[in-house]
Amino acid sequence: MLSWDDFNSEETQKTPVAEPAKAQVAMQQTAVVNDDAVTPAKNPPISTGAINDVSEALDNLDIEKGLEELEGASSRVDVDQKQMINCRADVNQLVPFKYDWAWQKYLDGSANHWMPQEINMTADVALWKDPNGLTEDERRIVMRNLGFFSTADSLVANNIVLSVYRHITNPECRQYLLRQALEEAIHTHAYQYVIESLGMDEGEIFNMYKEIPSVARKAAWALPFTESLADQNFKTGSLEDDKTLLRNLIAFYCVLEGIFFYCGFTQILSMGNRNKMTGTAEQFQYILRDESMHVNFGIDMINQIKLENPQLWDEAMQTEARNMILQGTQLEIEYAHDTMPGGILGMNAESMSDYLKFIANRRLTQIGLEEEFPNATNPFPWMSEIMDLRKEKNFFETRVIEYQTGGALSWD
Ligand SMILES: [Fe+2]
Ligand SMILES: [Fe+2]
Repeated sequence: MLSWDDFNSEETQKTPVAEPAKAQVAMQQTAVVNDDAVTPAKNPPISTGAINDVSEALDNLDIEKGLEELEGASSRVDVDQKQMINCRADVNQLVPFKYDWAWQKYLDGSANHWMPQEINMTADVALWKDPNGLTEDERRIVMRNLGFFSTADSLVANNIVLSVYRHITNPECRQYLLRQALEEAIHTHAYQYVIESLGMDEGEIFNMYKEIPSVARKAAWALPFTESLADQNFKTGSLEDDKTLLRNLIAFYCVLEGIFFYCGFTQILSMGNRNKMTGTAEQFQYILRDESMHVNFGIDMINQIKLENPQLWDEAMQTEARNMILQGTQLEIEYAHDTMPGGILGMNAESMSDYLKFIANRRLTQIGLEEEFPNATNPFPWMSEIMDLRKEKNFFETRVIEYQTGGALSWD
């Protein structure tokens, strides 16, 4: 590796160099330093002609080219020009911020950074390999959830990178989307880490989204929303196309991340509460905290788009959004029945169904729609302690302190 301490500046001054060959000699000297200052340069010298060609190409760089299509791109951006979608101002100018909430979430997400290998999986490996360690129902829950989540996080990451990112025309939101994409990669890494640690059949787990109906139906529901945007010819700018983007955001943030994750998270965290699969549960705890932020960011983004484009939020779109959330709730209730055919871990499909209705109410009201299940209550209040739905700031302050001391989080 090149170290600046090894660079002998005196040596470069010793040899007088003729003017035209200076750049060439400098390149050779760099090569010598790279080779530990002992080996002679291996690269053939670059001809003066090539250097002239390079200089000429750089002299002809047109800084206006490429910016012409973007109105105002070559001038400084005023905060009032910034918009969530269809913005004509330069997307490369991060500041001045218009949406402070987006930047703040980027900072909070970064303060929340973690990696799967930091979590000790020894107890999980021993328990998983012990034939009497877990019941068949408990094993099914661990496997189904790894099967679903390993695919779902990949779907979310692909949706951000291939579908959503280019249509969100605000740089502070894009900054958060980049952060979120990294976090989704870390989540997929976490599932792979658990699957590998426990010695599971990787083919079986990663193909579950095609082979197990309750997992496949959730993935199949989400896919069309990302496909319509992934088409390279798709562009926002018309009422229908802007609605297509809004539909995608509702599908992914309110339903996929906002409902489809909740049965599985509750099941795995409940195992952790009972001192089973504690390493896996800790991985899921960190993931849930990231996901809680993703959902809140997505909802802020949806509401801001509605605010700036009220024509999109007509009665038809409201009905559609409501139906999407209710379809998602129904699919997640099916998943609860499939993964918990009997009662387990102090919960069953019925109590999970109540919880999902409670979550669905919250997703509906977060985007300005009426609750569908007015009597729904939360049967698992301990979930809120792990992922407080309201006190986001306090939750992160607590988490940062715990994370920085390096200790495992308390399950009390
Ligand atoms: Fe994720
Ligand atoms: Fe996410």
